[in-house]
Amino acid sequence: MKVAFIGGGNMARAIIAGLCDKGFAGGDIAVKDPNEDKRAALAARFGVEGRASAGDWISRADLVVLAVKPQVLEAAAGEVARWIAPSATVLSIAAGVGVEALARWTGHAHIVRCLPNTPAMVGAGYSALFAGPGADARDRERAQTVMQSVGEAAWVQSEEQMHVVTAGPGSGPAYVFLFLQGLSEALERAGADKAQARSLAIATVSGAARLAAQSESDFEALRAMVTSKGGTTARAIEALEAGDFRGLIDQAVRACVARSREMAETYR
Ligand SMILES: NC(=O)c1ccc[n+]([C@@H]2O[C@H](COP(=O)([O-])OP(=O)(O)OC[C@H]3O[C@@H](n4cnc5c(N)ncnc54)[C@H](OP(=O)(O)O)[C@@H]3O)[C@@H](O)[C@H]2O)c1
Repeated sequence: MKVAFIGGGNMARAIIAGLCDKGFAGGDIAVKDPNEDKRAALAARFGVEGRASAGDWISRADLVVLAVKPQVLEAAAGEVARWIAPSATVLSIAAGVGVEALARWTGHAHIVRCLPNTPAMVGAGYSALFAGPGADARDRERAQTVMQSVGEAAWVQSEEQMHVVTAGPGSGPAYVFLFLQGLSEALERAGADKAQARSLAIATVSGAARLAAQSESDFEALRAMVTSKGGTTARAIEALEAGDFRGLIDQAVRACVARSREMAETYR
């Protein structure tokens, strides 16, 4: 499979790294980006072909990945649209841009939309995939192969569900980083030095996440396992519940979904 990336920024780099890691040949990947340094860095690291402008090299791609910011996507799609092969799959990773706009901007029907997240940068991503009405089994397979190179990839059946994924694994790493920041600052105040507080906070979250992932128990039961009546954990949980910790998370998710819907309106 030959892949053309339109945009060679952070996400494109993460996906290219994932593909090459899985044995994909850098020579089968071409990247269009206006920045010469970025093109050179990608070429040096992964052996990909850097391109400054659109051309018939795009028509050799089986999969065209749109990896620019949403604000410039319409213009970027317009530059490459005429070169995309009729049988190629267009995979957009831009947040908030629906398949209808993508089909209109590219003049192409084989559209798959994807919402990746930043843990993709270390191969631990979660990507939600949504197939447009003109996408077939081959499009789905190509898109899934690429996104699985940077972590888990799962299909959603309606575009509406993308808002839910945005509020979960899409934006959620930021909620977790805020929790990590709060925990490590508190551990410092409790007596740890900065480096120790950082590693204690990370160990807390990664250990708990692994235990939850490998357990059949629900989250409440897992919490009960560490919480003896009158003990240290019970006191800590009482403080979190008194501050309506779960209520705050609920507010964050609602705000995120609302903003995601607003953004979707912008790119109709
Ligand atoms: N980062 C995330 O956590 C995340 C998560 C999910 C989805 N996404 C989506 O992934 C997409 C890319 O995000 P990113 O973080 O990788 O952005 P980024 O680092 O800014 O990369 C985008 C690249 O595209 C280049 N570009 C601009 N116009 C172009 C054009 N007409 N043709 C080709 N390249 C062009 C930019 O160059 P200049 O900088 O010179 O303009 C930049 O190098 C966005 O749509 C975003 O919504 C990102």
